[in-house]
Amino acid sequence: MVFPEYRPRRMRLNENLRSLIRETRLAPEQLIFPLFIMPGKGKREEIPSMPGIFRISVDQLAKEAEDCLAAGIRSVVLFGLPEKKDPMGSGAHARDGIIQRGIRELKNKAPEMTVVTDVCLCEYTDHGHCGCLIGNTVDNDTTIELLARTALSHAQAGADIVAPSDMMDGRVAEIRSALDENDFHMIPIMSYAVKYASAFYGPFRDAADCSPQFGDRRSYQMDPANSREALREATLDVEEGADILMVKPALAYLDIISRLHDEFDLPIAAYHVSGEYAMIKAAEQKGWIDGEKIMAESLLSIRRAGADIILTYCAKEMGRLLLNS
Ligand code: PBG
Repeated sequence: MVFPEYRPRRMRLNENLRSLIRETRLAPEQLIFPLFIMPGKGKREEIPSMPGIFRISVDQLAKEAEDCLAAGIRSVVLFGLPEKKDPMGSGAHARDGIIQRGIRELKNKAPEMTVVTDVCLCEYTDHGHCGCLIGNTVDNDTTIELLARTALSHAQAGADIVAPSDMMDGRVAEIRSALDENDFHMIPIMSYAVKYASAFYGPFRDAADCSPQFGDRRSYQMDPANSREALREATLDVEEGADILMVKPALAYLDIISRLHDEFDLPIAAYHVSGEYAMIKAAEQKGWIDGEKIMAESLLSIRRAGADIILTYCAKEMGRLLLNS
């Protein structure tokens, strides 16, 4: 059927028709809001490169959870700024570490909230790399043991999902067996399976104070030029026991989200990262774009590409918008 018998505009005539044939939808419960937890009491510091996003102290988490739930957001992912850093990142798995305290507070005060934890050492090491060093290289096999301890300590504190973001080889299997050996069979692993060495993480590294003190992360995070390698990374994580596969960043990697969605039958998550958020906010503040519409369109495209779940700093704002529309 071709023009003039077929006219695609027929089904675009009004909003009722458009919404009848809409292929992709966005709902607040598909969004995960990242939280940055800092030491101290009564703290709420706005992150300069991420307007509207705050580092908050543990005592502020209950209020934050309430805000999220009011916007329809039922999941958060936690990042921590420890009081002290050391070469081995021991703050990452401390029983009384910043994240472990944050998890307990959230599970106490907002038990209906799903608490996801980022499992990585970069916020806890004094050199800012995602693992511990031998000489100047990040040592894979010692690091995955520490990551497994970290994930276990999160589960013991009450985390609902653990999300390793370090990009070491074999870490999903190591974490799965540490969890299972300690009776945490039911804690899912959301693996940052395909995480690129990206400049889009810039504002996050300020927010979480985790820039590498020398070199960069290209010896463990993926080369932005590669997509077939993404399938190999994802295959390994599936074999090692991942429950959810994540692609990160999101907008510049929609092709990767789409390939993973087609090739795997596990749920797909996408991380709409700090730089993606900062670009929307900066252009919005200059009056150059309609920030709300760009946010909605960006998140919808990530869903259309094949993501079931989106981690985004826009979660609360988008959730409110969706509830009111
Ligand atoms: C930790 C981690 C990073 C992000 C999430 N987990 C930083 C990095 O890898 O450098 C980035 C998130 C963002 O930019 O919003 N490894």
